[in-house]
This record gives sequence, C-alpha cells and structure tokens, in this order.
Amino acid sequence: MPAPSAPDGPPGPGGEHYFSTSPTSGSRPDLVRLTLPDLTLDLTTDRGVFSPTRIDPGTKLLLDEIRGRTPEVGHRRRVLVDLGCGYGAIAVVLASRHPDDHVLAVDVNERARDLCAANAERLDLDVEVCAPQDVAGSLRIDHLVSNPPIRIGKQALRALLAEWLDRLDDRGCAHLVVRRQLGADSLAAWLVERGHAVERLRSRQGYRVLEIGPKHP
Ligand SMILES: C[S@@+](CC[C@H](N)C(=O)[O-])C[C@H]1O[C@@H](n2cnc3c(N)ncnc32)[C@H](O)[C@@H]1O
Repeated sequence: MPAPSAPDGPPGPGGEHYFSTSPTSGSRPDLVRLTLPDLTLDLTTDRGVFSPTRIDPGTKLLLDEIRGRTPEVGHRRRVLVDLGCGYGAIAVVLASRHPDDHVLAVDVNERARDLCAANAERLDLDVEVCAPQDVAGSLRIDHLVSNPPIRIGKQALRALLAEWLDRLDDRGCAHLVVRRQLGADSLAAWLVERGHAVERLRSRQGYRVLEIGPKHP
C-alpha cells in the first residue's frame, strides 16, 4: 500500500495530489485532533486531501499566531476567508473564534469541501464552503487566512494569491504560512514588489508566518 501524501511532499496513492478537484483514492476516514491554547477540536479527514493523518504543523503555527489579529472594522459583519480550506482546520477555528462574522472556506478539491462542511456542521459552526469559481468577483475580504497550495507551482500560486489578495478590503489583511525551504522569502519579496506591506510575524520549525496588507494604489 503506498503511503499517503506527506503535507508538502510527493503525490499520494495513485499519483494523486492533494489539490485534485475530484480525488479518486478510496475513502478512508480518520479523525485528527487540533489542540490550540484556546480550543480543542476533532476533525474528520480522509485520503485525497492535504495532511490527512495530522494537523499540519504550519497550519497549527498559523492558527496560534493569528489569534487576536483579525482586523477591527467597526460594527459590520466581517468576511473571513480560509483560502484552500482542505478539511477545514482554519475555517472552523475562525468560526469558533468569531461566531458573529461570515466565514467562507474555499477549495478546488471536492472531497476537501465536503469534509470541511461536515466538520463545521458537526461542530455546530457557521461556515460557507465554496468552490473558487462560485465566489462572487465583488467579494471584499477583511481577513484572508491560508496555508496556500505551494505544490501547484510558482506561477499558479502567484496568480492565485494575486487574485485573492486583490479582494482585500482597505483595512483588511492576510496571514499566510509558508515553509522557508519552499520559497517563503521569495514569495514575501514578490508581494512587496506587488505593492503589499509584508511583515514576517513568526519563524519557527522552518515555517514563516507572513502578515500582508492590501495592495497600495
Ligand atoms: C496546503 S493545503 C492547506 C489545507 C488546509 N487549509 C490546512 O491547513 O490543512 C492547500 C489547499 O489549497 C487547495 N487549493 C489548490 N488550488 C486551489 C485553488 N486554485 N483555489 C482554492 N484552493 C486551492 C488544495 O486543494 C488544498 O486543500
């Protein structure tokens, strides 16, 4: 039996990537526990999605780091987006911490979307789960949080981030976690060239957590 895909490693069973739109690997549901200082949540995972056997350490670092960093925008309901939600670790934490805001979880992988929706429902959390093409072009985002799909390749990743970061509200911000060895520093430099303010919030265990402001005019 081939090993399942490592978080940022080679494809899993049958050469399948975690970003397949419709995974064909046989379903084998599992349960992983996400433990943070403020929350403990159990999440259902499966083959054919990112990091099915444990919460990715980069995701956990990101979730630790963004606590209290969702921008204040006054009294309206904020829009919080988990870009590339997988089975929903980021989305459910955002929804737990911010029950009055609108949490949108987006992924190309259908199995990941189903798992994310099921996890949110079981935890009684309000998360809207969508395919990217179903998100309105006019959406304005207050907080974009992502462990982005580095493995789709540099150009595709940059195009994806450009598309979503251009939706940030003027007072919004994004937080990304990226492994240093997978290009976190060159990604940060490219974002600065694009006109974003970028701060490296945290560097640990080979991961960088970046805080990114909206593009300057
Ligand atoms: C590194 S994984 C992170 C998953 C999850 N957020 C986590 O932290 O465990 C990146 C996710 O991005 C998704 N993805 C790939 N291309 C995408 C795209 N164009 N739009 C949205 N999601 C995409 C993949 O399917 C994958 O689930």
